[in-house]
Amino acid sequence: MALTPDLSQHAIFITGAGRGLGRSMALKLARCGAAIGVVDIDAAACAAVAVEITAAGGRATALPADVSSRAALMAAAAQFAAQHGRIDAVINNAMLLRYEPLEAITEEVLDRMTGVGINGSVWGAQALLAHYDPKRGATLINMASPVAGRGFPNTAAYSLVKGAIVTFTKVLAAELGPKGIRVNALSPGSVPTPGALGLNDPAEYERRSRTIPMRRLGHEDDNAEACAFLLSPEASFINGEILNVDGGISAAG
Ligand SMILES: NC(=O)c1ccc[n+]([C@@H]2O[C@H](COP(=O)([O-])OP(=O)(O)OC[C@H]3O[C@@H](n4cnc5c(N)ncnc54)[C@H](O)[C@@H]3O)[C@@H](O)[C@H]2O)c1
Repeated sequence: MALTPDLSQHAIFITGAGRGLGRSMALKLARCGAAIGVVDIDAAACAAVAVEITAAGGRATALPADVSSRAALMAAAAQFAAQHGRIDAVINNAMLLRYEPLEAITEEVLDRMTGVGINGSVWGAQALLAHYDPKRGATLINMASPVAGRGFPNTAAYSLVKGAIVTFTKVLAAELGPKGIRVNALSPGSVPTPGALGLNDPAEYERRSRTIPMRRLGHEDDNAEACAFLLSPEASFINGEILNVDGGISAAG
């Protein structure tokens, strides 16, 4: 049975919510009653997800923005906060999924990947700090990955971003905990989203599904359910956790 915490008093700002894991978290949290700020660089995808949520009876605002720009992210957050009086949670999900060998990483690619994945997550955290209600507290969720914990060849740029996200999550858990803000990360594994399908061909996914301890790939819903749990009152003492939602990939090494 799906977990459905009552999030009707929550305004939740989700980056990269136009498709993939961001979209599935947006739909799930909207079903739990939250008002969703759907942030994505792809304005059409952003609008489509907001329409999908409202058509199903939920509440959503399309907020097209490039998260690597502090000004753009802060403007989107200010618009969302003005609508709801505060922001209760930010999910730093936007990222470019891209693998290549070390020698192929260009300055432009590295700047873009760190700009979206690292800088964007810093701006997301700052937006939450600027707009949360200290009397209510708040939750920040970052998106890590199993690649942060081991060496997967040809993923240097992507993995260094995810490694940074793990450290960033722990630092902010310690720094923002006393302010009433819990900071955790989800670490999903092998979910064939639109972005991930560009990295791995179907044969690779078939091979991988046979090596994952649970003997299947991840579903977008696996991650969305874990996200709902982290936002629920039952998770009120969970802070600084990197929650693996990967069927045991990380445990098996
Ligand atoms: N799919 C997996 O197996 C997997 C595994 C581990 C971690 N993750 C992480 O989950 C998150 C979501 O991944 P996904 O698989 O859904 O990817 P995806 O590529 O399908 O979706 C990413 C979304 O982010 C948006 N985006 C990209 N750059 C942006 C920017 N500058 N500003 C705003 N939005 C931007 C894209 O337009 C897209 O809608 C990422 O952080 C990824 O690293 C995914």
